[in-house]
Amino acid sequence: MFTRFRRKRIHPVLRDLLQETTLSVNDFIYPLFVKSGEGVKEEVASMPGVYQMSIDEIVKECDNLKALGIKSIILFGIPDVKDSVGSDAMCEHGIIAQTVRAVKAAHPDMFVVTDLCFCEYTDHGHCGVLDPVLETVDNDITLDNLAKQAVVHAKAGVDMIAPSGMMDGMITAIREGLDGAGFVNLPVMSYSTKFASAYYGPFRDVAESAPSFGDRRSYQMNPANRREAIAESVADEMEGADILMVKPALAYMDVIRDVRENTTLPLAVYNVSGEYSMLKMAAKAGVIDYERVMMETLLGFKRAGADIIITYHAKEAAEILAKQVAGSR
Ligand code: PBG
Ligand code: ZN
Repeated sequence: MFTRFRRKRIHPVLRDLLQETTLSVNDFIYPLFVKSGEGVKEEVASMPGVYQMSIDEIVKECDNLKALGIKSIILFGIPDVKDSVGSDAMCEHGIIAQTVRAVKAAHPDMFVVTDLCFCEYTDHGHCGVLDPVLETVDNDITLDNLAKQAVVHAKAGVDMIAPSGMMDGMITAIREGLDGAGFVNLPVMSYSTKFASAYYGPFRDVAESAPSFGDRRSYQMNPANRREAIAESVADEMEGADILMVKPALAYMDVIRDVRENTTLPLAVYNVSGEYSMLKMAAKAGVIDYERVMMETLLGFKRAGADIIITYHAKEAAEILAKQVAGSR
């Protein structure tokens, strides 16, 4: 006696009926990088298909995204001027506040998320204000600034805030700031379990946010730590985060599953720049079937327990999903 698994794999319709996990265009958030100027759309060498864009180009891009069924974006700002505290991020005329206002004015139906951090805005490239003695980010001063930044984004009309700086207490501080300013209904999606990863390399080219000295290991997590990974997300749940996140995704599938099983909140994963570039470069070298590898990877995140996937592949994946719905698989 043995089990006949294969008889359920023969008819393609039965295979579809028995599919346990599905991928949908509703799962995606698409990252966009904004800089000042007009008509600016510059591709980044390390991330083919990813651009630094001016606000007018971002507004146009939203038309393309909506045509593909993509209804949510996450914005990263590249300011003209950087300083020691990252003032542009806390200014109502800063690059992100301007972009949010422009996008929401042109596309009220686009769900706009902002990344809340300081590394793109500080001249030293770290994720907050520096403690001159410790030569790393001062946690508690940075908390005050994160709350200010959150309120600036909220006033500009953002739909959700995503703090990525891995400061202790950041969700409490941001929630208090938002609630105090009357934004009790603005959700916070925390980058709750974020590792100090080499997979962010290409992003730092696009966002111009590489630290000028040292690294982020005094605030981002050690990739070796599983228990701590759960504790970080559980702490943010207790602080009042609405959605949690594991980042990066591909090398951390076990952590995605662990967080899924240890909290009741919705879970996002960030399919980061290095993961995207690996597939792009492998495709360019002709060594993989890019579309199939991409779809298998994205589906894997869902199977591991993700509800939301932040991914640079969103447009390409949306096109493929649309064709599948049309029945031409
Ligand atoms: C900012 C931030 C980073 C990413 C998202 N938000 C970079 C970092 O922590 O250095 C990485 C995204 C990617 O690699 O695609 N803190
Ligand atoms: Zn940062």
